[in-house]
Amino acid sequence: MATSSENKMKIFGSGSLSELFCFRTCTLFLMDYDQNQTIRLLGIGHFMVYLMMHIFYPIMITVCSVDGFHWPLTKDTVIFRMANRTFAFALPGLLYGLQFPPYCEDSLMDALEGLFTNFGHYIKVTGNKGLGFVLKDDDPLLWYRMRLRFEPMANEVLRELGQMPGKSCFNDSGHNPGYLRAIRMSACTKVLEDGMINSGILRQSHYTVNGTNPPNVNEFIGQYMAYASVNAITCMVDTLESAEILTRIGLGYLIKNDVNEASLETVLKKIGFKIWKLNELGVATFTHKLGPAVQEETETMMEKEEKWKAKDRERKNKEASANTTSGVGPSDKGKGLMP
Ligand SMILES: *[C@@H]1O[C@H](CO)[C@@H](O)[C@H](O)[C@H]1NC(C)=O
Ligand SMILES: *[C@@H]1O[C@H](CO)[C@@H](O)[C@H](O)[C@H]1NC(C)=O
Ligand SMILES: *[C@@H]1O[C@H](CO)[C@@H](O)[C@H](O)[C@H]1NC(C)=O
Ligand SMILES: *[C@@H]1O[C@H](CO)[C@@H](O)[C@H](O)[C@H]1NC(C)=O
Repeated sequence: MATSSENKMKIFGSGSLSELFCFRTCTLFLMDYDQNQTIRLLGIGHFMVYLMMHIFYPIMITVCSVDGFHWPLTKDTVIFRMANRTFAFALPGLLYGLQFPPYCEDSLMDALEGLFTNFGHYIKVTGNKGLGFVLKDDDPLLWYRMRLRFEPMANEVLRELGQMPGKSCFNDSGHNPGYLRAIRMSACTKVLEDGMINSGILRQSHYTVNGTNPPNVNEFIGQYMAYASVNAITCMVDTLESAEILTRIGLGYLIKNDVNEASLETVLKKIGFKIWKLNELGVATFTHKLGPAVQEETETMMEKEEKWKAKDRERKNKEASANTTSGVGPSDKGKGLMP
């Protein structure tokens, strides 16, 4: 069953990993930026939040995973609770939806909300006048309606945090679809995790630290520790996307800079914590690992999609045979979005 916050710590070659939360199953979706705002399955299975700390340097990162698909939970990851058991994440160029099954207890969801508040940029819902969430988790319109609400808020926060909101700027020329960005995000997160706690590739000369922690910072983390910025990962994803554009359409493509880009001081004030991100040398250090990591992640994803399709066919066949034998439709099955 569910466990949470037991802080089981494991030590690896150059860092530690502490499990902060886990639950046996949940579903992760991509809310794509394409015209149809496609909802695409990214993972079904074991959910985990864990904290990784470097042994030698005062840097850490928290990461979420669903069945081996990873994404960063950082002080500039924007999180919002869409319904009782459904959360949304905004990362630069990506929107994710995370949904837990109906048997998941309220207390657990509240614990998770607490964790997201501590480690992410959590947008507290206040507009419901204490009546709870408007939509049920399995409401067919949940994604559409809550996205209308969440996306503008998330975009504003991301902009304030110095990130470019909305779809990736490297998609302008029709390359780099959102689904591939999600896969790359997962692969790059894993590369950084490995470089930080396992292989020790990540060195002090590879990152910069800015900002100050508030006096009442989480005791478990410590005053001196720097939280990761989402840029610790997105710098690698962006490198892959710009490389794609350079190979496909040549050097003529100019990366557009956001004219309203907030000054670093303003951003740091908004974040309010000490954060670290990779510098150019850091990105260069990991570059040779990115290609193979993305390749592996893509293959894993293709295998999973085959599995999901097969399961779906199986379910449909079962339904069809149930219809012919009993004549009673599986009225409540397949209504929600939880497959
Ligand atoms: C959310 O959970 C609370 C407490 O379990 C319940 O009273 C409420 O009806 C739920 N809201 C929706 C929209 O399902
Ligand atoms: C990005 O590029 C792909 C083609 O590679 C295209 O299909 C897609 O619609 C574009 N937009 C988004 C938001 O992904
Ligand atoms: C951020 O850190 C870098 C490298 O340590 C330093 O050069 C820069 O001045 C710092 N910026 C701020 C605003 O503290
Ligand atoms: C089974 O019957 C229900 C209605 O009774 C229908 O909605 C559903 O599509 C049917 N399933 C299949 C696979 O034919």
